[in-house]
Amino acid sequence: MSLSVKHLLGIKDLIPSDIELILKTAGQFKEVLQRPIKKVPSLRDTSVVNLFFENSTRTRISFELAEKRLSADTINFAASSSSVAKGETLIDTAKNILAMKVDMVVMRHSASGAPHFLAKHINASIVNAGDGINEHPTQALLDCYSMTEKLGTVAGKKIAIIGDIMHSRVALSNIYCLKKMGAEVVVCGPPTLIPKHIGSLGVNVSYNIRETLEWCDVANVLRIQLERQNKPLFSSLREYAMFYGVNKQLLQDIKKEVVIMHPGPINRGVELSSDVADSDNAIILDQVENGVAVRMAVLYLLAGKKEQMI
Ligand code: CP
Repeated sequence: MSLSVKHLLGIKDLIPSDIELILKTAGQFKEVLQRPIKKVPSLRDTSVVNLFFENSTRTRISFELAEKRLSADTINFAASSSSVAKGETLIDTAKNILAMKVDMVVMRHSASGAPHFLAKHINASIVNAGDGINEHPTQALLDCYSMTEKLGTVAGKKIAIIGDIMHSRVALSNIYCLKKMGAEVVVCGPPTLIPKHIGSLGVNVSYNIRETLEWCDVANVLRIQLERQNKPLFSSLREYAMFYGVNKQLLQDIKKEVVIMHPGPINRGVELSSDVADSDNAIILDQVENGVAVRMAVLYLLAGKKEQMI
């Protein structure tokens, strides 16, 4: 089996069998990562450049580790210390890097559509590591992998995505992924942080955090993205935490177990209290761990390798 796409630009472009193949391959790589020697030679003939035009901790480290575990040659690029700071364009930057015979590009950019633009102009596989408020496909895949690991399947499960849906590429990629895999999805947050036509993606909308938590099996809690809000969309962080923050008291009141997820970085005390983030119900660090195996799977499959070769 192989992927139906040459690039991973978004979950929107994937068919369910692509997602199933990535998750299955990630499971095989997770097994590799439990071994004393956590490295395979699969991509020793492949060079990957990590082009990060926007800050990142988890995604950048996770991709770099995945590439190293696959024995790929990796090059790291940070826009702040590159010739972008002297005015070089995105295309010129990429073409110059590819002139050095790079096979794959992992790219994060603050502009929605930047990796799609690059994919049209250069001859290398592009992996979107987060583009503006559009998509963050590997985050959705690792979230889906982590939910499947915890619940057995996501098909038929009730998943709530809570918080700043409007500015969240994680929300959009999660919605596409979960709907393709047969989950029921509710988005919950203040009306100003929920796009008007989100229902057209097959999700339901709730403005009530307690009802949402009573309904769901999993709560994927998102960061309030103040850096993407031009104007204030709620009166204060304190008020946001009071009405939409997930805290211990709320979870005790609803008297049921809910799996808590967060893509990171967490605004502790705003969208999630520390006692919940650090509780046994939270699988936040499992998400981070699974990210390496999922990104290994994505790189491996986009490089055209077959599952039986692992
Ligand atoms: N989840 C996520 O994308 O985190 P980083 O911004 O640290 O990469």
